Amino acid sequence: MSAATLQARPCGPLTGRVRAPGDKSISHRALILGAMAQGTTVIEGLLEGDDVLRTADAVASLGAQVVRSEDGRWRVQGRGAFAEPSGIVDCGNSGTGARLLMGAAAGFPIKVRFTGDASLRTRPMGRVLDPLGLMGARWQAETPGKLPLLLQGGALKAISYRLPVPSAQVKSALLLAGLHAEGGVEVVEPEATRDHTERMLKAFGAQLDISVEGHGRRIRLAGGQSLTGTAVTVPGDPSSAAFLVVAALITPGSQVTVEGVLLNPLRAGLFETLKEMGADLTIENAREDSGEPVGDLVARHGPLKGVDVPPGRAPSMIDEYPILAVAAAFADGVTRMNGIGEMRVKESDRIALMAAGLEACGVDVAEEPECLIVTGSGAPPRGGAMVETHGDHRIAMAHLVLGLAARAPVKVDEPGMIATSFPTFRGLMAELGAEIEEG
Ligand code: S3P
Repeated sequence: MSAATLQARPCGPLTGRVRAPGDKSISHRALILGAMAQGTTVIEGLLEGDDVLRTADAVASLGAQVVRSEDGRWRVQGRGAFAEPSGIVDCGNSGTGARLLMGAAAGFPIKVRFTGDASLRTRPMGRVLDPLGLMGARWQAETPGKLPLLLQGGALKAISYRLPVPSAQVKSALLLAGLHAEGGVEVVEPEATRDHTERMLKAFGAQLDISVEGHGRRIRLAGGQSLTGTAVTVPGDPSSAAFLVVAALITPGSQVTVEGVLLNPLRAGLFETLKEMGADLTIENAREDSGEPVGDLVARHGPLKGVDVPPGRAPSMIDEYPILAVAAAFADGVTRMNGIGEMRVKESDRIALMAAGLEACGVDVAEEPECLIVTGSGAPPRGGAMVETHGDHRIAMAHLVLGLAARAPVKVDEPGMIATSFPTFRGLMAELGAEIEEG
């Protein structure tokens, strides 16, 4: 059983080298594409967090053989199609798992029941179901547009769809459905979002036609394409590395290297913003791994200044605003995070919870419908609060990082949820010298 609360106390310098855990987005996709493909997919560095393990169980119930080898590699034996599962597919806390699996399943003539935990059951699924419905998928739900629901796939037809909100999950769901739609699918995204599905589809042998349009992309995928299993190396998750990096930037005397971090420009908005804030953050050993740019991030403590974060940057750092807000609390001046309305429909309403948590820690913070504004004095905030996370892993980790460098310890509730995305968070933090304890 996990602890009821975790407490982070102000600590000495954080030092050392650690490896970031596997990227969550890429891990989900490797399992799902492996299950849709014909043949074997071998995955190295899969994130073994609760969200991804749910997806592993889901693709197994959809007919793939999924085995973890003793050396830590995962093997997925796909059948080129999904089979109708006998039980319910429970995606736990994971919006990515639910939305991508619904898209993938919609392409096959099967019925699948989907559900999730209390948080996931409140999150909007209409954004995926509406376009899947235009393609010909059907579903029944007690509450329209929400889990739990029964999806009936098969006999999909082509659509051209312009995303109303920037969402890699919706784009990915439609591309995965399009593989089995007569005539394929065209997705237009007005703002470019993470492109791991496109990159991975190519690695599995699919053909896509991608053109840049303004700040976004037009992606065409022909239907009736089959995928072939392949080897995938999962790079380190920049969204998890973010907590280690910011912890080093705000804790006096620190120098931390996080190895093997994915540096795809569509994921690197936080690092760009931290540099604008004056952070001492450098990249070493830049390289390519499995078609993705990767590098080691070196973060050193130093002064930060407030900045205006433009709305166009949101898709490239949408999961990083909670920890950016913590960095902003230690900076000198005002940080305005603009155009971040999507934060309100994540695992929790992250604008509201960051505003409440930071305020409880003595930070000058204000929220607007699509904006979070943090004003720092350049000195450590008070801390000394118990923060309610509403079961949101990133709200928990953000406030624990704040507690490492605040004037008084910070406690968070429901810390067990951290394991959804970053099960090794406490262990890696301890290796660097952080004091995060139960109680
Ligand atoms: C993800 C896309 C983002 C992000 C989520 C992972 C993905 O969600 O917040 O954690 O893997 O495609 P949206 O597509 O809803 O923006």
